[in-house]
Amino acid sequence: MIPLVDTYGRLHDNLRISVTDRCNIRCFYCMPETGVKFQPRDEILSFEEIERFVRIAVTLGVRKLRITGGEPLVRKDLAKLIAKLSAIEGIEDLALTTNGVLLAEHARDLYDAGLRRINVHLDTLDRERFKQITRRDDLAKVLEGIDVAQAMGYGPVKINAVAVKNLVEADIVPLARYGRERGIEIRYIEFMPLDSQGLWERERVLLADQMIEMIQREIGPLEEIPDRDPRAPATEYRFADGIGRVGFIASVSRPFCLNCNRIRLTSDGKLRYCLFAIEETDVKSILRGGSDDDVRAAVRASVHAKWIGHEINSTQFVPPPRPMYSIGG
Ligand code: 5AD
Ligand code: SF4
Repeated sequence: MIPLVDTYGRLHDNLRISVTDRCNIRCFYCMPETGVKFQPRDEILSFEEIERFVRIAVTLGVRKLRITGGEPLVRKDLAKLIAKLSAIEGIEDLALTTNGVLLAEHARDLYDAGLRRINVHLDTLDRERFKQITRRDDLAKVLEGIDVAQAMGYGPVKINAVAVKNLVEADIVPLARYGRERGIEIRYIEFMPLDSQGLWERERVLLADQMIEMIQREIGPLEEIPDRDPRAPATEYRFADGIGRVGFIASVSRPFCLNCNRIRLTSDGKLRYCLFAIEETDVKSILRGGSDDDVRAAVRASVHAKWIGHEINSTQFVPPPRPMYSIGG
């Protein structure tokens, strides 16, 4: 097998699969409040098509999967897909990113289907700010989902918090404390230009260094964790007192494109070599009309075409034509 290496020498073994573009909340940095146009059902890959794609991807060296959305738990019978994927030989890691609203309800069936790793998207522990960000009053459900998943024995539950300046400053430290108390790593994600309404501005990015400063001032010193996987996007720190850790996905202030090992499959069957890619490959029509070799060739061609990285920090930056909810993060 020739692995998926691009023209910059990056090995691609990590596939993110978006299973729906729908969502049950409306985070402002991702979706408009009303009038979102979702993909019609027949445009969405079936579980059989996703499974076939993953089996083919494994023959190209893909070893890690992450299920995303929209919100993946709004896809009907998701546990059935998890069971199919977790049974595929060659998959070493299967994880899910969810907003947590339906997690308490589904934690058991997903666990039984073989899922062990969950990231919950949660920006604040404050009910009013949660409402302001997501336009829904569901904080209590998310917190319950986290509790249920932890009690069930999921591997490390992690929290993803999107850091928007002039909005979540008061949430950074309380989230870190909450994580320390429960053994949950909080991963702060710099706000990226992926919203559907062009709200992003450089001045609205709360930077990793600013958050590190806030946490150290209020809680205590942080130490960078040595010998981490250089291909993991988060820079991770542990508290010097030994209790807990935090991570920063600093896409804007510390781009990690040179270590990227990911490709992405959207719910409507498009393959993307970058979160910010402008071009994409229509894998769905190949899955619906072509052979496994045709699919393999299309994946190789996409990885071969991969650019060096996003240009958020250049004046020529062009945001991707799809918003976050239809890429999957
Ligand atoms: N910038 C940064 N992160 C975002 N997410 C959604 N929209 C944005 C954005 N504009 C995050 C959410 C979700 C993950 C897939 O992407 O936290 O968990
Ligand atoms: Fe839904 Fe995730 Fe987008 Fe929030 S960021 S609206 S939870 S898809």
